[in-house]
Amino acid sequence: MGRDVIIALDFPGREELFRFLRYFSGESRKPYVKIGMELFYAEGPRIVRELKELGHPVFLDLKLHDIPNTVRSAMRSLRELDIDMTNVHASGTKEMMEAALEGLTRPDGRRPLLIAVTQLTSTSQERMERDLLIREPIDEVVLHYARRAREAGLDGVVCSPLEAGRIHDSLGRDFLSVCPGVRFPGGEAGDQSRVASPERAKELGADYIVMGRPITRAEDPVSAYRRAMEEFTGVSAAPGSTVPDEKRED
Ligand code: C5P
Repeated sequence: MGRDVIIALDFPGREELFRFLRYFSGESRKPYVKIGMELFYAEGPRIVRELKELGHPVFLDLKLHDIPNTVRSAMRSLRELDIDMTNVHASGTKEMMEAALEGLTRPDGRRPLLIAVTQLTSTSQERMERDLLIREPIDEVVLHYARRAREAGLDGVVCSPLEAGRIHDSLGRDFLSVCPGVRFPGGEAGDQSRVASPERAKELGADYIVMGRPITRAEDPVSAYRRAMEEFTGVSAAPGSTVPDEKRED
């Protein structure tokens, strides 16, 4: 399985989304994109179908967490969307993750990749102890949740690039690490605290990197995307248009 850069499309609605995607209209290979709760709840499943029709691989980041039966049924609905990757909270238990996998599997046995969120990066050791009454070191908790995800048959976890090595050492090279918190050297970290560059993420063994603002808010998003692809995968993206059609002067 090859490495890839996933662009986090954190936009409030379709207008902003398609204004951004016009930059990529000249790219022969449509970027892998991530749709989160903000866009999905605003625009509904139709937005996923539209992106798939345009040729984008889609990671639907809805982080499901409910009783196993409900998650199984929800995943059955999501599998109809022809997505490429989706996720659940590992804290929903192994039983819930198994139910998710079952619901996501199509009658012909094929299914999108399913990964687990371990502890959110917004959860600190202190918050985990105070609010969740979990007293183990957070690194151990993350690894334990990842192990349970692997036992349930999931394909990998969301983690910081800085944790990718440990996850692979403990759970195997084929257990995927999908890593947000990636920034170009010298770029703004924003609210991400433990960041790594695309090149460093590659060295650390990340399988996918998820980049939002360093690409979506770049002056030239296509160049930023190509730079990330080149640094992370070593493959340069095919040159194409960097200017949306409507802004062209010719
Ligand atoms: O803009 P930025 O590159 O920080 O975007 C990262 C994306 O990854 C966002 O959509 C964010 O919600 C998501 N994410 C994250 N940390 C996690 C899980 C998801 O930053 N632990």
